[in-house]
Amino acid sequence: MGSPKIVMVGMVVVVVVVTVGGVEVMGPPPCEFPAIYNFGDSNSDTGGISAAFVPIPAPYGENYFRKPAGRDCDGRLVIDFIAEHLRLPYLSAYLNSIGTNFRHGANFATGGSTIRRQNETIFEYGISPFSLDMQIVHFDQFKSRTGDLYSEGNSDRDKLPKQEEFSKALYTFDIGQNDLSVGFRKLSDAQLRAAMPDIINQFASAVQHLYEKGARAFWIHNTGPIGCLPVATFYIRNPQPGFLDQFGCIKGQNDMAVEFNRQLKDRVNKLRAELPLAALTYVDVYTAKYGLISNTKNQGFTDPLKVCCGHHENYDHVWCGQKASINGTQYYGASCATPSTFISWDGVHYSEAANHWIADRILNGSLSEPPIPVTHACHKNPGL
Ligand SMILES: *[C@@H]1O[C@H](CO)[C@@H](O)[C@H](O)[C@H]1NC(C)=O
Ligand SMILES: *[C@@H]1O[C@H](CO)[C@@H](O)[C@H](O)[C@H]1NC(C)=O
Ligand SMILES: *[C@@H]1O[C@H](CO)[C@@H](O)[C@H](O)[C@H]1NC(C)=O
Repeated sequence: MGSPKIVMVGMVVVVVVVTVGGVEVMGPPPCEFPAIYNFGDSNSDTGGISAAFVPIPAPYGENYFRKPAGRDCDGRLVIDFIAEHLRLPYLSAYLNSIGTNFRHGANFATGGSTIRRQNETIFEYGISPFSLDMQIVHFDQFKSRTGDLYSEGNSDRDKLPKQEEFSKALYTFDIGQNDLSVGFRKLSDAQLRAAMPDIINQFASAVQHLYEKGARAFWIHNTGPIGCLPVATFYIRNPQPGFLDQFGCIKGQNDMAVEFNRQLKDRVNKLRAELPLAALTYVDVYTAKYGLISNTKNQGFTDPLKVCCGHHENYDHVWCGQKASINGTQYYGASCATPSTFISWDGVHYSEAANHWIADRILNGSLSEPPIPVTHACHKNPGL
């Protein structure tokens, strides 16, 4: 990963030895992020939509938190593994009013969020009213109101961020998947492709806005292989040859995700030039997720299109944690016996075991551009 570097910090020469692939090399020191501010959808929501609308029920959360924890998962999400890796507490959701602690950041992600504002309510197809532009408005409000409370000496100070830490924080993003899912539902392929530049531009505006507010370190996940979500294939009968790939994923949907990612990566490259003080890391989560799906057996997982939680039989679906009657018989969407062998927890969201596997692939920077680990994502020219 390049040659050793000596980094000047003030008048002190700091040389840090890091291990890359078992070989010791010298590089810049880790960033010691004091906080994480996250923006996204259910892939990284740690309690927002669950607090704002209907609580996410059991058996969600059962395999790590031992109770529902506001996450669309049986346990931890990739953002939780990022927090652990940076030795920071799990992020409280900004929208959660009970038992929250924002000393080391806040989570603005909500399940069902899109980049672009949508004109439908959450009660139709689960699209969150908190699109990325609203999450940015929430961030601005969070920053200014916590700043006021802090300077007024409010007694909640120990649960609030220090103002000077906003510019040292890591700003993370995982959003775009639902812009694609809405597109698949409402638009033709050509229309969705035509909408892509606008979706990407609105994403870039969010990054630019945070930069203007002082944010400097950005960790940007691309979108996953949406056509491999079991829910995508639930209602497909007798597919034409070539409609599915060799793993059973919907090829056309994955192609659209790849196109989104191509444009996102391109735009992040441009942002590097536009925002001279920012360290922007583009993280290829797609490759991590598809790598798992295409190699499940060797990684100790079962068929990638099988779902752990819920009752899914012959085109009848009782979703995880729900009850429903099918032909007069009551069914409960229960968990499976071995959740850690499933990639999909509920047909839409990855299991904790899969999230852990994915986090292990992305945290060390091997799927990032530039290829720096998350611990070093504040360095603009890492020289690693
Ligand atoms: C919402 O969007 C759809 C599709 O773009 C459009 O047909 C509809 O008129 C819009 N509704 C409103 C209230 O804007
Ligand atoms: C319920 O009834 C429908 C129509 O008779 C049938 O197609 C379906 O397989 C039945 N579902 C179950 C779970 O028995
Ligand atoms: C990152 O971790 C993955 C999975 O453990 C490993 O295969 C890869 O070699 C690592 N890459 C680096 C640069 O350390």
